[in-house]
This record gives sequence, C-alpha cells and structure tokens, in this order.
Amino acid sequence: EIPGNKVVIEECLVGFEFSLICLVHEDLVIPLEVAQDHKCVNDGDTGPNTGGMGSYSPVKKITPEIIEEAKNSIMIPMAKAMVEEGVPFTGFLYGGLMLCEDGIKTIEFNARFGDPEAEVILCRLESDFVQAILDVMSGKEVQLKWSDKVSHGVVMASTNYPASSTKGSLITGLENSDALIYHMGTKETKEGLVTNGGRVLMVVTMEDTLEEAFKHTYEEVNKIHCKDLFYRHDIGKKDM
Ligand code: GLY
Repeated sequence: EIPGNKVVIEECLVGFEFSLICLVHEDLVIPLEVAQDHKCVNDGDTGPNTGGMGSYSPVKKITPEIIEEAKNSIMIPMAKAMVEEGVPFTGFLYGGLMLCEDGIKTIEFNARFGDPEAEVILCRLESDFVQAILDVMSGKEVQLKWSDKVSHGVVMASTNYPASSTKGSLITGLENSDALIYHMGTKETKEGLVTNGGRVLMVVTMEDTLEEAFKHTYEEVNKIHCKDLFYRHDIGKKDM
C-alpha cells in the first residue's frame, strides 16, 4: 500500500432497489413510505444514470416485514452510530437499499429527501407533514397517516439528457391534464411555458393500483407536447 492511498473494494449488488427515507432525530427513526426510483435514462434500465426518470409508491415487492427489517438492521443502527460517534443527525436519512438473494443491502445513504421519491411519497401523506417534522425534532414518536392509493410519476426530460439540457422549447397541453405536475426545469416566458433544464416536468397520478396509475400517468404525459422532451415508458413495470 502506498501511504495515504486506499483502495475501496465494493460488493456488486444484484437485486431489487428501493428507497427508504426516514425522518431522523438522534436515535429516533420514523420511516416514510417506500418508493422506487428509476435512475437509468432509457427503458429496461439501460443507458447512463440520471437524477431519476420516474418513481412510484408503495412498492409491492417491499413488504411491511422487509421494511421493518430494513429499519431495524440498517436505518436505526446508522442513526445510533452517528449519535455514538458524536455526530447526531437530524433530518431526512435516505437509505438507497437493495433486496438481494441474501438479504437487504445498502447502496448509499443520502442526507436528503430523494427526488423523484419525494414527489410520489408526499402526495400520499394524509397527516400534517410540518407537525410531523416538528414532533420528530422534539424527540416525539409520530404516527404518519398514508393514503392506500398508489402514486406513480414519470419524468419528462430534455432530448439528450443527461448529456445536455435544453432551454426555450415551448411546452403545451398542461392545462388539459388532471395530473399533479411538478415543474423541475421550466420557465414562464411571454410565449408560454418553456424548457429550462435537464429534467423538466414530473407527471404524477394516484390510483387504487399500480397498473391503473401507470395507465393514467401515461395518458396524462401524452397530453403534454414539446418537441424536445422524452420520457421512459416502463416506470413501475417491474412491480406489476
Ligand atoms: N433519487 C435519488 C436521490 O435523490 O438521490
């Protein structure tokens, strides 16, 4: 070994990825509902990684037992370790996890509410989000109330994203959509709404099943027109 140089050997994880984001204050850990991001740019999880091309929540394959195990074996030990090491954490602890043949493994931790997970998780929250944050910050256990509906969201991105982005391409048809539409990279101009970034819009619907939400979201996506936008066609397919 050359002094100061280190080689980190990581395990190649093969399995089913999911995001478990928890409200954390010191050793208090409150899991939010699970979502699944789709990081690759193209259908079938091919092409370069992106900031996320779509997501849905809940994730059928990730049962309450798996969530409980992930909380107890990964998220709580992580929060406790930060307390023990003198760097207690308060905020959103994002567990990027993978269900593998030999158990749940950690891909990454982030200190944020994930995107595009936040878009499909928050719309399912029926109890008061701000109150939950205030309660957790004062060390109180909170009971979050979630909708039973399935939320499903598709990101519309600029042609050539993630290599490049576009600015100034006219987007029309949003007024015809009943979806929840998040503006990620748009700009209002006197000509109308235009693209202004890589990931431009996220179109989200909520239905009783993932299959119904999938169908509904793509119907809404098809009402939005822009010559410089594309999207994945298979968000959520692996869980259907
Ligand atoms: N969805 C991935 C992230 O926010 O890091």
